[in-house]
Amino acid sequence: MVWSTPPPQAVRYVVCAVKREKEMSKDSSAIVDTTIQHRRSTRAYRHDPVPNKLVRHILEVASRAPSGCNTQPWRVHVLTGAARQNIVDTVCHAFESEPDQHVSEYQHTPEEFFEPFLSRRRKMGFKLYELADIPKGDKERMRMQQRRNYTFFDAPVGLLFTVNRDLPIASFIGFGAFMQNIMVCAESHGLGTCFQTAWCDYHRIIAPQLNFAKEDLLIGGMALGYPDKDAPINQLRTERVPVSEFAVFHA
Ligand SMILES: Cc1cc2nc3c(=O)[nH]c(=O)nc-3n(C[C@H](O)[C@H](O)[C@H](O)COP(=O)(O)O)c2cc1C
Repeated sequence: MVWSTPPPQAVRYVVCAVKREKEMSKDSSAIVDTTIQHRRSTRAYRHDPVPNKLVRHILEVASRAPSGCNTQPWRVHVLTGAARQNIVDTVCHAFESEPDQHVSEYQHTPEEFFEPFLSRRRKMGFKLYELADIPKGDKERMRMQQRRNYTFFDAPVGLLFTVNRDLPIASFIGFGAFMQNIMVCAESHGLGTCFQTAWCDYHRIIAPQLNFAKEDLLIGGMALGYPDKDAPINQLRTERVPVSEFAVFHA
């Protein structure tokens, strides 16, 4: 049907639809902002399993991340049950019995931290150890906290990420977007996460266990599960410098 002028109810319908769309977009931007702001690294988990379907959903949503020329460089090993436990046992055993014998294939921390990064790292470290009730200089307790990385902090799901080492370094940018998507999507489903480069040091023993191809470079792991909200270590809220300190606006 063709109208020369829309009847009043149609006008009302369009006005309402536009208003609703505006309200919805206001709502969804508030939800996205809040979800990003609420995400934090979770280092203690409840034992409740995460449904496999939900993990798949999160990975599917996360894979909408941008990547150079849509190369989608991400590869993920999802570890649950016995597979997760086998990796945890192998790596914890190596951590105990072969200290200092395992190193990452790529450098994930600077040779020596320098300012302003040194102070930021210290601030975060002091707070973390304080919440974990580890006295300053207690190297053994610090080592035990480091070891918790290799249990995925008891999270029921462990993710290990590899990238094809022949891709250019820019692939890490797309990978970062993918990982952030996982963390934000997980947050929106009430799940906690902690990205961990700590896993990289053990690539030599992880690679054969998970049948990595020769070109697979282990770039990190991630704990995924329902947060233990009462755990003191999960009360850590890290600071951020204000926008004025890291952004330059040119007009
Ligand atoms: C590249 C990278 C490596 C990280 N490696 C570890 C790790 O091995 N163990 C750990 O407990 N946290 C690790 N984290 C988490 C950071 O410590 C955390 O993101 C940072 O302190 C900011 O805190 P927030 O995530 O709670 O906002 C890593 C984060 C990133 C992005």
